[in-house]
Amino acid sequence: MDSVIQLEEVCFCRKNRTILDGISWQVQRGEHWALLGANGSGKTTLLKILAGYEWPTFGRVVVQQQTFGATDIRKLRRTIGLVSSTLQQRLPAQDKAIEVVASGLDATLGLYRRPSPEEMQQARTALSRLRAESIAEQSYQTLSQGEQQKVMIARALVCRPTLLILDEPCSGLDPAARVRFLKDIEYMVSQPDAPSILFVTHHIEEIGPWISHVLLLKDGKVLAAGTQEETITSENMAAMLGCRCEAYFVPPRWHLLIEE
Ligand SMILES: Nc1ncnc2c1ncn2[C@@H]1O[C@H](COP(=O)(O)OP(=O)(O)OP(=O)(O)O)[C@@H](O)[C@H]1O
Ligand SMILES: [Mg+2]
Repeated sequence: MDSVIQLEEVCFCRKNRTILDGISWQVQRGEHWALLGANGSGKTTLLKILAGYEWPTFGRVVVQQQTFGATDIRKLRRTIGLVSSTLQQRLPAQDKAIEVVASGLDATLGLYRRPSPEEMQQARTALSRLRAESIAEQSYQTLSQGEQQKVMIARALVCRPTLLILDEPCSGLDPAARVRFLKDIEYMVSQPDAPSILFVTHHIEEIGPWISHVLLLKDGKVLAAGTQEETITSENMAAMLGCRCEAYFVPPRWHLLIEE
């Protein structure tokens, strides 16, 4: 089978602390994963390693069949889209949405050259994959948080990555905007040539039917990995969060009840 991610015993240590502790995990082409874990459990660190921005202390990392340490990481990075709030804060806010999307072609924060008509068309296509064509000419700073998130995702999509990493893309969205946003992600995933998605969240409500698998992290270790039904259990949620809770599915979504 076509493997997208292969991690073997990955450890990440900083300042005498083990932040990731022996992570082994495999993602195959066609799978879309959610990553769940309490604050500080190591989710963002794991994503940074996958995108080649941090280096593991031990272990083997193979992404899209390229072994880290034996491949040109900058070339590999072009096949991976990473959307996180840190990046979002560093964009030139007065740029138009379409310009922010086009800046993804050179992976720059802001446009440093005039894109060709074909490249502008690529940027429009990326926006349309998220049903967001109508905001193309609006300046980034005037967009709602959900619209800004879509622009960031389109910016990542414009290079046609085969792996797209979304670190808490729904944070700051109101409940209705969140449902609409997730529908648009689902639409994007349903299109031909959609990238494999890694979706970090704190809310099991966001784990829709398009997510095939879930990885649960606790204190830098894998607590569980498997299908939604295998991993989203009251027992696992309680262990992950360190409190009594109940996870249940009422169509169309999961719910989590925290018991005090
Ligand atoms: N370079 C670093 N040096 C020291 N500590 C670090 C470093 N990178 C991460 N950490 C620590 O590792 C832990 C895991 O951080 P990480 O950002 O991966 O957590 P997270 O699961 O993404 O949390 P959140 O849900 O709050 O986003 C945190 O306690 C953080 O302070
Ligand atoms: Mg994080």
